[in-house]
Amino acid sequence: MKLLIKGGKLVDFENNCFILRDILIDGKFIKKIDRNIRVQEDFKVIDANNLYISPGFIDAHVHLREPGFEHKETIYSGTKACAKGGFTHVFSMPNTKPSPDSIENLNDLLSRINESAVIKVTPVASVTEGIGGEELVDLKKLSKENIIGFSDDGNPVNSIDYVYKTLLNSIKTKKPLITHSEDRSCFKVGAVNRGKVSEYYSVDGIPNEAEFNMIQRDIDILEETGGHLHICHVSSKESIDIIRNAKLRGLNVTCEVTPHHLSLTEDVVMEKGAMAKVNPPLKTRVDVDRIIKGIQEGTIDMIATDHAPHEIESKKLPIDKASYGFSGAETAFSVAYTYLVKPRKINLIELFRLMSYYPSKVFNVEKEGTIKESYFANLTLINLRREYEVKSSEFVSKGKNTPFEGEKLNGKVMMTIYNGEIVYEEEN
Ligand code: NCD
Ligand code: ZN
Repeated sequence: MKLLIKGGKLVDFENNCFILRDILIDGKFIKKIDRNIRVQEDFKVIDANNLYISPGFIDAHVHLREPGFEHKETIYSGTKACAKGGFTHVFSMPNTKPSPDSIENLNDLLSRINESAVIKVTPVASVTEGIGGEELVDLKKLSKENIIGFSDDGNPVNSIDYVYKTLLNSIKTKKPLITHSEDRSCFKVGAVNRGKVSEYYSVDGIPNEAEFNMIQRDIDILEETGGHLHICHVSSKESIDIIRNAKLRGLNVTCEVTPHHLSLTEDVVMEKGAMAKVNPPLKTRVDVDRIIKGIQEGTIDMIATDHAPHEIESKKLPIDKASYGFSGAETAFSVAYTYLVKPRKINLIELFRLMSYYPSKVFNVEKEGTIKESYFANLTLINLRREYEVKSSEFVSKGKNTPFEGEKLNGKVMMTIYNGEIVYEEEN
């Protein structure tokens, strides 16, 4: 059965516009893009009138929790949630048990993905065994496998030697070092942003230095080694200045920002408590405004969700004990659209680039990230006129932990097509 999508407005990144075209899908690939493709008997027709069509979103940062933490999420529930969010390819983070730190553990993960993922998942291998920081993995061996790069996300890589070696390894292998930049010597308890929120909760809080010191350190190493450094969930104004400068010097440093860091300030943490606790912590208005400027000026390469599902009990603990993170896959597009495109900070084409084209380019993902004949039929269909209220009870993710509960958002994913198959369809 061939799929024919009729009447949608597809994004054309090359010409920076939307065009009205039909898309014919045969098997896993886009067969033809044209005006008015004639319907034939064996076609299933999808009416995309009034819908915008983006290449399937690519998420560089999700926590699928399996193996080890299946009570939080599984590869099946997590990829279902991502499909609902419009994602067709996600990179899974290695803070699982075990982590993908050896060929054996990676193969186990790959076979689980093969069995239960509803969209494409490419693992990020860990830098150290069990993301413990002690023993470096076999970079050379793992680089030959189907992985995106190396990260200890959840934890920083403290060892300068390991950062050095992983960056050197990235030169030939094109498997970047992906960092969770957090200098934990900057605080004892942490939990929230240092300043008025940490005072409110009587904890010491996490200062901006914790992030930007580590980013500066890694960029200094990158300057020596060469290679590719990708920085996760950037959140502080200083970090963005540092990354901008490094880019201007020609270094291959890329970064991502999350939907929550570009939309919410630390004030939400006083209102919503641990439900708004995340690492890195939500920051001040000045930081959020610098992030938005960073997106506009091109310092920020992509939007990545940092989808971090947790069992609700672990979010109902006191602020210093509760777990960090949000279940973000299902709200990502709407949050970004509501906070960036609606108030005209960026246009819809640029948002689509940030969620598909740029990640495909940064991570050398072939035949994705653009709507083009012979490319994978990965498509996200969106209704911009839909407004809805976030209800975590409707999440398909096992994680109901969201700081957006009850918020009205605009722009809804209506359908997600992965490799020519409908993997999500909005019911009403
Ligand atoms: C992530 C998690 O729960 O795994 N939590 C978070 O607050 N971001 C870890 C991470 O991405 O650092
Ligand atoms: Zn992280």
